[in-house]
Amino acid sequence: MAETTSRPAELAARLIDSGALGVDWRAAFEAVPRHRFIPDTVWTEDGERLVPVHRADDEAAWLELCYADDAVITQVDDGVPAEPGQVGHEITSSASRPDVVALMLSALEVEPGMSVLEIGTGTGWNAALLAERLGADQVTSVEVDPLVADHARRVLREAGYQVTVAAEDGALGYEPGAPFDRVIATVAVDRVPQVWAAQTRPGGRVLVPWTTDLHNGALVAFTVGREDAGAVMRGRIVGNVQFMRLRAQRGKRASLARDVRRTGQARRSVTDLHPSHALGEYDASLAAGLRVPHCKLIVSHDGDGGYTVWLVDPWSGSWASLEHEPGAESFPVQQSGARDLWAEVEAAYHWWDGLGRPSADRWGLTVAPEGQFVWLDVEEHPIDR
Ligand SMILES: C[S@@+](CC[C@H](N)C(=O)[O-])C[C@H]1O[C@@H](n2cnc3c(N)ncnc32)[C@H](O)[C@@H]1O
Repeated sequence: MAETTSRPAELAARLIDSGALGVDWRAAFEAVPRHRFIPDTVWTEDGERLVPVHRADDEAAWLELCYADDAVITQVDDGVPAEPGQVGHEITSSASRPDVVALMLSALEVEPGMSVLEIGTGTGWNAALLAERLGADQVTSVEVDPLVADHARRVLREAGYQVTVAAEDGALGYEPGAPFDRVIATVAVDRVPQVWAAQTRPGGRVLVPWTTDLHNGALVAFTVGREDAGAVMRGRIVGNVQFMRLRAQRGKRASLARDVRRTGQARRSVTDLHPSHALGEYDASLAAGLRVPHCKLIVSHDGDGGYTVWLVDPWSGSWASLEHEPGAESFPVQQSGARDLWAEVEAAYHWWDGLGRPSADRWGLTVAPEGQFVWLDVEEHPIDR
């Protein structure tokens, strides 16, 4: 058995040193060993494929993955790897990156006595950290996949935490435990379920990884209020986190092999807008995500420092590519299908530029019974999406 006892304390120290973790969470991170929550088979990325690593075959490699500063992939293709020979394509459950877990727990602003609902139990590690800090009876966690929920419930029990783990759709929250003081989603949504506000006490906090098709990386911290129409929550972006999507909001996966067709008939042009200015920089790409729906981004590298940016709309079959060679100042573009996806991204970039290049923390999101909308600086300035 590889050495495990000092790992949790080393991880806590690393997270505190990096600034990701507040010292108020140190004891919980030291007390809850991450590896006890990770299943015996995990998965690693091998190009576009996902391949298994079995603890029984290589305990040291498995343990390294458990304590790396990275997410650990714990389920692929909803538990049924798509290809024979155990090769998966889509990540469907994981233990989130430790620094992301730390950032989110810090941003949750919990205090003793508070009750918390977690959406997306996954391995149960985050639920265990909350239970260690607040008491297991204060923590409820909802996981849509029954096998993942069973695993989490079992390892939580074995570690001594009688957390309620419900194998249900977290998009519905968890009415039997409401109202909560805090809700933390560890799964990303484009459309934020209003019921999460309705099941939170007025003044409570709801933390949500918010995503668009093009940009996955905004953590929104909402404050819940009550109005005549019902529960409303308003929030701003407080961090950059990437999560898999809520199962019902997964949409379509883009694949170059499947979606990039009719290359000979593509419309050709040249742009001098650098792809990293429009899509590589956080604030600009966030804005592009607001304006360019149903568009996924894939970057392929050619090994000589060059790369191609692909924009793919798997719904309509439109795609665009933009080639970047090192040192180049203009970039060949190809566009195909009903949409001119690069032109849409360019228009979004100029729109963002015209707004004064707002940083991520200036965007806000309101979720109300009648729907959700995005605003800039103040709610009175909703933006057209
Ligand atoms: C990134 S993992 C969560 C990590 C987890 N909190 C941990 O500590 O390991 C996201 C989880 O959300 C789950 N999920 C996806 N859609 C869901 C839904 N509608 N309701 C509840 N859980 C969902 C996935 O099955 C997956 O296990």
